[in-house]
Amino acid sequence: MNPIYSRLVSTGSYLPERILDNAQLSRMVDTSDEWIMARTGIRARHIAAPGESSVDMATAAALRALGDSGLDIQEIDLVIVATTTPDQIFPSTACILQSRLGNRGAAAFDVQAVCTGFIYALATADRFIRSGGARHALVVGVETMSRIVDWTDRSTCILFGDGAGAVVLSASSEPGILSTHLHADGSYAGLLQVPEGEKYLAMQGNAVFRMAVRTLGEIVQETLAANGMQASDIDWLVPHQANVRIIQATAEKLGMPMERVVVTVAHHGNVSAASVPLALDDAARRGCFLPGQTLLLEAFGGGFTWGSALLRWG
Ligand code: UT7
Repeated sequence: MNPIYSRLVSTGSYLPERILDNAQLSRMVDTSDEWIMARTGIRARHIAAPGESSVDMATAAALRALGDSGLDIQEIDLVIVATTTPDQIFPSTACILQSRLGNRGAAAFDVQAVCTGFIYALATADRFIRSGGARHALVVGVETMSRIVDWTDRSTCILFGDGAGAVVLSASSEPGILSTHLHADGSYAGLLQVPEGEKYLAMQGNAVFRMAVRTLGEIVQETLAANGMQASDIDWLVPHQANVRIIQATAEKLGMPMERVVVTVAHHGNVSAASVPLALDDAARRGCFLPGQTLLLEAFGGGFTWGSALLRWG
């Protein structure tokens, strides 16, 4: 029997209307556009409207991806949502999203791996499809980070934003996703967390930064080695959008020029699990990716968790 692969069919994304730029932020906390730009490369972030939920944003992104997939919603047989900020403890965001989209019967569940959530969800959907457990999967990353950010803490509130990104994957005889790699080390939980019983995220930024640079450097090498590839075989790096300095450090380790790295962090900040699919959709819609090109997706986040996916476009 021929092997089954999962192929990325379409992408979609959504950013809330309200933009909070660095100038506005510097009137809220003791910071400046210069500091934020120099340390993070972030210029603005989008903030969900009062009453606008994670499911609302996930629905908007999913509808765009589904619209471009040519599939009927009933053909979707797997819905996975990566989120750290569900609207409710249960039912899962995926179940509410499924119902909003008018699908019945598909398996639907959430994945929680913070900023690495989308890569975890993509890897999970890929395994479902490869094993014959699903044929058409909707994979979404969505976050309402603005509701777990302490807007009086200048060391964290400058970083995060809200939004959603989505992809549709279908079974195919051609790859598609070439490999996925997932890791976690829970012994670092205390460096980036919403502490027990508290409402807002707390982060030791400097320690997280150093670990992110080291770990992402390692996972891109692991991904290349698993596929017998060199960095020069990668056409596009699509990294987690947390801080442009982390992105530049990873590109430098790979020896990749920044022209081949998708960078969207300036206009939406760190949208955790939505960052990678937001960047992917942005570059896809700008026509950056050509059929047959090789894309390396990677992310790092709370847990710590980290992961990557190597895929062929088109
Ligand atoms: O998605 C994965 C999760 N998160 C990340 O990847 C984020 C990882 N960390 C980072 O991106 C960086 O650590 C930050 C951007 C958060 C901070 O940059 P940094 O270069 O690590 O700065 P720092 O924390 O070492 O702070 C340097 C100085 C401090 O002042 P002193 O102690 O040197 O006087 C801070 O108090 O900058 C000060 N500072 C600020 N100043 C102006 C911290 N936040 C701000 C601010 N505006 N917003």
